[in-house]
Amino acid sequence: MSLVTAKNKEKKRDQWGSKIGFVLAAAGSAVGLGNLWKFPYSVGNNGGGAFVMIYMIFLILIGLPLMLAAITLGRKTQLSAVGAYGSIKKKWSFVGGLGVICGFFILAFYSTVGGWVIYYCLKAFTGGLAIKDPEVLGGIFGGFISSPVSSIMYQGIFLILTLLIVIRGISSGIEKASKIMMPALFVMIMLIAIRSVTLPGASEGIAFFLLPDFSKINMDVIMNALGQVFFSLSIGMGVMVTYGSYLDKDANLLGPAASIPVLDTMVAILAGFATLPAVFAIGFKASSGPGLMFVTLPAVFASMPFGKLFCILFFVLVLFAALTSSISMLEVCVSYFVDEKGVNRTKAAVMIIMVMYIVGIPACLSMGPWQDLHILGNLNFFDFYDKLTSNILLTSGGLLLSIFVGWVWGADHAIEEIEKMGVKFTLAPLWKFLIKYIVPPAVFIILINSFKSVIEAMF
Ligand code: PFF
Repeated sequence: MSLVTAKNKEKKRDQWGSKIGFVLAAAGSAVGLGNLWKFPYSVGNNGGGAFVMIYMIFLILIGLPLMLAAITLGRKTQLSAVGAYGSIKKKWSFVGGLGVICGFFILAFYSTVGGWVIYYCLKAFTGGLAIKDPEVLGGIFGGFISSPVSSIMYQGIFLILTLLIVIRGISSGIEKASKIMMPALFVMIMLIAIRSVTLPGASEGIAFFLLPDFSKINMDVIMNALGQVFFSLSIGMGVMVTYGSYLDKDANLLGPAASIPVLDTMVAILAGFATLPAVFAIGFKASSGPGLMFVTLPAVFASMPFGKLFCILFFVLVLFAALTSSISMLEVCVSYFVDEKGVNRTKAAVMIIMVMYIVGIPACLSMGPWQDLHILGNLNFFDFYDKLTSNILLTSGGLLLSIFVGWVWGADHAIEEIEKMGVKFTLAPLWKFLIKYIVPPAVFIILINSFKSVIEAMF
């Protein structure tokens, strides 16, 4: 037994209160701004249906096998990311470390958008979003994100909310919050999607979303689709390893490993239906980027009966979805300090949030005064953090996870862990084939291209 495992055994580790609690919390990590905000605008920026098609292919061939690999590794070792890799092969603990670093950069730009959501919740409450004209809504959005003081303040509030939940620990904090928020979000987004697709003029948007135009496929679209799979599933930075580590030994891993990606994808697709048909119906541009959700959806609400109520509910739920994701990022970092360094949970969480805020402020300013401050090629801080995490760090984490589970720990050992307590894994040969022979080369090729594009941007 390695030292790390021994150290961990000494203290009683927190665990999920129930299996459904785990599934909802893991789904809570997966479902977030990545689905509701990033997926629709990425579809808009990357050619519509072609992006959706590639996304689905990567989800099935790469996302699903990796999800099972991550949860199994966590459950086996009962350790957070760094310890999980390290307890099987000491030298590999750096992969967990990579995840901790990645968490900092994702939360840095994630909290910027989280802050926007809080502002929109308040604005919805006061009726300030009950406007049909997308031009006016665009003006409100643009005005807010470019004002440095208020956007940094709201970013701080988002981080403090994240901190408060994580401090409460696994079962009473993260689990309880997810159990209430996730089902409510699902119903809500479904209602909005129905309204959006029934707006006059929505059919063009539905076609844009669903019909692949193959001429739009290029390496950028492929890289972004894979990055979006990793980002949306919270795969590649140790969240699922860490969450799996709080599962007890008699839990069946197959159900969650399949249902989390299915739930996640359903929410992303529903968000696409909620946003893109409405974009076309109100005459907005699908390629208008990060503002898409904040401009289009209030316009949809304004055209609905009880629109104000829907608007409030929607932004509150988006905030919940964002929080169940941000707490998972913070948890990866916190669990490292708690499990590996023996730091007290509250102290670790406060310290980390402070550093995250410092790293995050430049991302926030990139939407305003620092918009044209390019730190790499034409990327400002916000875009740089996004590209760095989605296209490089998460992708590297996913690649290393597949090599580790497929080859270093060994797919057969992982299957043994999955089949514990009499579980029958009928697709084991297929999973083994994918995790050993398909995922590593496919992700590697795309990662090389991501590096190439970063280097090209530098010179
Ligand atoms: N999956 C989250 C979302 O779609 O919003 C974002 C995220 C959470 C990415 C946790 C990575 C992560 F580790």
